[in-house]
Amino acid sequence: MEQKKQYKRYTVTSALPYANGGVHIGHLAGVYVPADIYVRYLRAKKREVMFIGGSDEHGVPITIRARKESITPQDVVNRYHKMIKESFEDFGISFDVYSRTTSKTHHQFAAEFFRKLYDEGKLTEETTTQLYDEEAKQFLADRYVTGECPHCHNQGAYGDQCEKCGRDLSPTELINPKSTISGSTPVLKETKNWYLPLNEYQEWLKQWILEGHKEWRPNVYGQCKSWLDMDLQPRAMTRDLDWGIPVPVEGADGKVLYVWFDAPIGYVSNTKELCEQDPQRWGNWEKWWQDEDTRLIHFIGKDNIVFHCIIFPVMMKAHGGYIMPDNVPANEFLNLENDKISTSRNWAVWLHEYLVDFPGKQDVLRYVLTANAPETKDNNFTWKDFQDRNNNELVAVYGNFVNRALQLTQKYWGGIVPERGELLDVDKKAIEEFKDVKEKVETLLEQFKFRDAQFEAMNLARIGNRYITECEPWKVWKTDPKRVETVLNVCLQIVANLSIAFGPFLPFSSNRLRSLINEQNFDWEQLGSIDLLPAGHQLNEPQLLFEKIDDETIQRQLDKLEATRKANEQAQWKPTEVKDTVSFEDFEKLDIRVGQVLACDRVPKSKKLLQFLIDDGSGTPRTICSGIAAFYENPEELVGKRILFVANFAPRKMMGIESQGMILSAVDADETLSVVTTTKDVKPGSLVG
Ligand code: MF3
Ligand code: ZN
Repeated sequence: MEQKKQYKRYTVTSALPYANGGVHIGHLAGVYVPADIYVRYLRAKKREVMFIGGSDEHGVPITIRARKESITPQDVVNRYHKMIKESFEDFGISFDVYSRTTSKTHHQFAAEFFRKLYDEGKLTEETTTQLYDEEAKQFLADRYVTGECPHCHNQGAYGDQCEKCGRDLSPTELINPKSTISGSTPVLKETKNWYLPLNEYQEWLKQWILEGHKEWRPNVYGQCKSWLDMDLQPRAMTRDLDWGIPVPVEGADGKVLYVWFDAPIGYVSNTKELCEQDPQRWGNWEKWWQDEDTRLIHFIGKDNIVFHCIIFPVMMKAHGGYIMPDNVPANEFLNLENDKISTSRNWAVWLHEYLVDFPGKQDVLRYVLTANAPETKDNNFTWKDFQDRNNNELVAVYGNFVNRALQLTQKYWGGIVPERGELLDVDKKAIEEFKDVKEKVETLLEQFKFRDAQFEAMNLARIGNRYITECEPWKVWKTDPKRVETVLNVCLQIVANLSIAFGPFLPFSSNRLRSLINEQNFDWEQLGSIDLLPAGHQLNEPQLLFEKIDDETIQRQLDKLEATRKANEQAQWKPTEVKDTVSFEDFEKLDIRVGQVLACDRVPKSKKLLQFLIDDGSGTPRTICSGIAAFYENPEELVGKRILFVANFAPRKMMGIESQGMILSAVDADETLSVVTTTKDVKPGSLVG
């Protein structure tokens, strides 16, 4: 969409991650990589921009985690804030400020914001009955309660949301609520809270979004529309909790600001913090949040849309003085190997773990996550796709082109950029092809179409590869070195262009490429030029920009996920329902006895069967086959054991052997199976009952 207005500066925010876990590929793909590409691009365009991040350190999940680990919430957020911050630094997410919502500046700022709304009567006071845990002596907000969802009847719905059907809930809507603190059934108790009357802003929101921002992504616009088509309800901005920012009002002891009230204000207080640190460079915070010439953009995931498009704007509108977001390019979700990414099930690729397994390969992940970005629909990360994109695109296209150009220059001219002579049609065609890359990338980035924009950058390398293959400089070198000079000169100009075009997307590789071509000072505006490297310029030793990733490396990642899947299955395993009641007479029909294993061998040509020879006390050994070979690598280990078998089980032929009975085994998931033995040396043939 065309920009409606010329802005002087950009305030770019990215959702503040909860400091109760690390950062995974879903966060990166959904929010931080696109935001980072965008701000790097803006900076390259020499626009004035501030990129704001920080940790969201309040909210119920953090207190639940603290309780589980018997540490304080502050301990939890200290640990994860550090870890999250490091991950972002490692991946080149180039925040201008990364602070936290437990900072003093933020507490003060958020409290003042609330107080102003309160003083001006912009909030309504309501006494409602809420769930209260009498054992823990505490009101149960949000995730402190679980129960059955009234809509889809999911048994594990939370007090703020059902993760199965995605609906927003309030704790009192849950059927059969249970406290997650004590496990007890909560009672109802009256409490007073302060509400933001969203309903009073409905018409304004409709006008502002539905009329004024038709250019927003369809997923964002659509979600706003479905909210605004319903009647908005007042929403509580305070909670009965002891972790958070105390409500700055008389008689509000034991109450804190709702985490979704304070967190977005964190964007502003972080701005203030940065401005106070370096007022020369940044000026005052107001210019970033209250000047109509500032363009505000929020990068978020789709679960944050209502907070950034409805609630926070209403807060700012009620407060007055603030600009509204001009765009909210929210992404959909990224799945991992066809399964929803989940912190609690550890179904994720964690950034800190990725860097241990793939040191120095930040850009590979950035590339794949952008190439596969969930911009319009949920998308899927697979390790196979990761490998393919690395090997077939980064290595075979980008890396290969750069390497060919640098190696040939090294070989024929000792790494000195040769002269460009007369241009043939084939040269002109290639130059013509990449001339408009700048315009294409820019147009796409301005529209927040990051995957298409990255594709255009990669296209430069495709053009280069086609060109070099067509010209075959290695063939004409002997006969026409002048021609080779020209071809390599053009190739090196394309290489230099690649370092500019990929700058916002793959910053680490662009830097390496710039040191390989020994030239740091390109300007974005030069993108598309064929005069980036002058003849006579000395390049550095060629080195590979990317390397292949082999099958074993990928298999190790798949094995790791498989182990997680198994562990989850085990953790979720529950005994099956007890079968229908049987009478003593029914039970007595079974003749179960003790037998001692005389021999136990695999049945030839069968993967499943073990053949047991059992002393059943009768004097004649009994043969029984059992389909449990997979669970005993050494069947001999069973020899001598006293086991239980059903003696009157109808005989059957298995692989040509007559099996006279059934061996009793215990089975859990698929993983463990054990033949049942006795705890004392009972005589073979003894009855079991
Ligand atoms: N912590 C929230 C989440 O991870 C995002 C907060 S964004 C902010 O979903 F606007 F509140 F800061
Ligand atoms: Zn539900």
